[in-house]
Amino acid sequence: MDLKQKNKLLDERNKLAELGGGTERIEKQHLSGKKTARERIDLLLDPGSFNETDKLVTHRNNDFGMEKKKFLGDGLVAGYGKINGRLVYVFAQDFTVFGGTLSRANADKIVKIQDLALKMGAPVIGLNDSGGARIQEGVESLAGYADIFYNNVISSGVIPQISAILGPCAGGAVYSPALTDFIFMVNETSHMFVTGPEVIKAVTHEDVTKEELGGAITHSSKSGVAHFTGIDETQTLMMVRELLSFLPSNNLEDPPVKASTDPLDRCEDLLQDIIPADPNKPYNMQEIIDNVIDDKHFLEVQSNYAQNIIVGFARFGGKPVGIVANQPGHLAGVLDINSSVKAARFVRFCDAFNLPLVTFVDVPGFLPGTNQELGGIIKHGAKLLYAFSEATVPKITIITRKAYGGAYDVMSSKHIGADVNLAYPTAEIAVMGPEGAVNIIHRNALSDEEKTKAVEDYREKFANPYKAASLGYIDEIINPKDTRCKIISALEMTQNKRKSNPPKKHGNIPL
Ligand code: HXC
Repeated sequence: MDLKQKNKLLDERNKLAELGGGTERIEKQHLSGKKTARERIDLLLDPGSFNETDKLVTHRNNDFGMEKKKFLGDGLVAGYGKINGRLVYVFAQDFTVFGGTLSRANADKIVKIQDLALKMGAPVIGLNDSGGARIQEGVESLAGYADIFYNNVISSGVIPQISAILGPCAGGAVYSPALTDFIFMVNETSHMFVTGPEVIKAVTHEDVTKEELGGAITHSSKSGVAHFTGIDETQTLMMVRELLSFLPSNNLEDPPVKASTDPLDRCEDLLQDIIPADPNKPYNMQEIIDNVIDDKHFLEVQSNYAQNIIVGFARFGGKPVGIVANQPGHLAGVLDINSSVKAARFVRFCDAFNLPLVTFVDVPGFLPGTNQELGGIIKHGAKLLYAFSEATVPKITIITRKAYGGAYDVMSSKHIGADVNLAYPTAEIAVMGPEGAVNIIHRNALSDEEKTKAVEDYREKFANPYKAASLGYIDEIINPKDTRCKIISALEMTQNKRKSNPPKKHGNIPL
């Protein structure tokens, strides 16, 4: 073979690999409303930045006539490239080849990418679209999954790991995405479940569609498995790019700073009137957040799940932070099982990746009820307490209104290590609300008139921030209009924070 022929051979092999399962299957993929693995990678990465690894890998299975069916790349496109100029590793399951199923050979391609990402300190993004374990390969496929799971765990807290579910993701295959930091889904085309509708029908006789069982709406609003949902693949992949713009490449880096033209000393007069005069009236905490962060730009995480707490990313003076905020506009901002777990996981992510935590508090307490108690609110609420306590990143807390009972302690109070604790003049910091407190202190011994008077007395004495400020539990009571500049000052003051917890193998968070 001369040089020309050798080059031609390479071109031919590359072209063949790029065709995946062939034009017919590509057409089928498009008809089902999905893009191919390569189209997805092109959309996700900066143009021209993709370098493919293991493009010519084939499976090594000789059972069930598989030796006659080989496709270059073996149903997985993997490699590295850039997002906003920063290195990322990516793999995309190619549904046009054996339904994107996991073989020993293509599992090794994912493992190689994971190993490189960990060594080089850069995020891994997995684009999932697969029928699961390649049945013809049996336990070799399961071994491949386990190798990937193991790497997910070892990489956790070291490099950001992101999963986009762009088609089916069933059986044990769901556990790799579940071990990563964020799961993206696409409306209608993506599904995740451990056992599908047919198995459920056979075992429990329940009728359920795959959309109800594991569609994007289900996982973003009911199970809390998904963190972001896109209306289509393009929007979903753009959201992945946006998320990465807030994150450092690894746990030893600071988050990337973005130039901001939003004035650091911007005051917002409208914040003066946001908290209603009646303490039992709801308001929208999102309005406060939007008016204090840079350019009103907030990337909310799990926006449709446990809406009594808001978590997400924003910037102050161009520097990314994680925001946690009770939402009095939903269930009065109460802490319950789902909101505790949602916020705890977010807090731990921010702590792992050096994102300061800015916490807005308006919480009437933990949600009472047998559902909550029997569901384990004790251990789930403890997760949030644990997460805030162990977090060593700068922690800034602003109490806008209620901070009652155990929830006061939990929501990044001074006592569990917050660095700067601020309160609005409308803050109410006490063991419980005035009505509840009077009922307990006086039981039924008071007339209606005496009760009203006792409630007013209690409100006067305890439902304010002054007692906590007199004890140094609140550093400063601020005018709401100054919130942005006070947070920015606090973030500047804490930017060189040095704090570490005692050395240990790992803690024992109440799971
Ligand atoms: C081998 C598979 C496959 C599998 C699909 N294919 N799943 N090949 N192993 N698990 C092949 C099909 O034979 C077909 O090949 C091609 O992929 C596309 O599949 P279709 O069925 O034509 O596509 P569609 O109608 O879109 O349905 C997709 C699907 C369905 C919903 C994923 O194929 C399906 O239900 N597959 C089985 C899923 C499953 O039970 N997987 C095992 C889960 S348990 P041709 O050549 O005809 O195009 C598991 C354990 C993991 O994964 C454990 C980890 C610890």
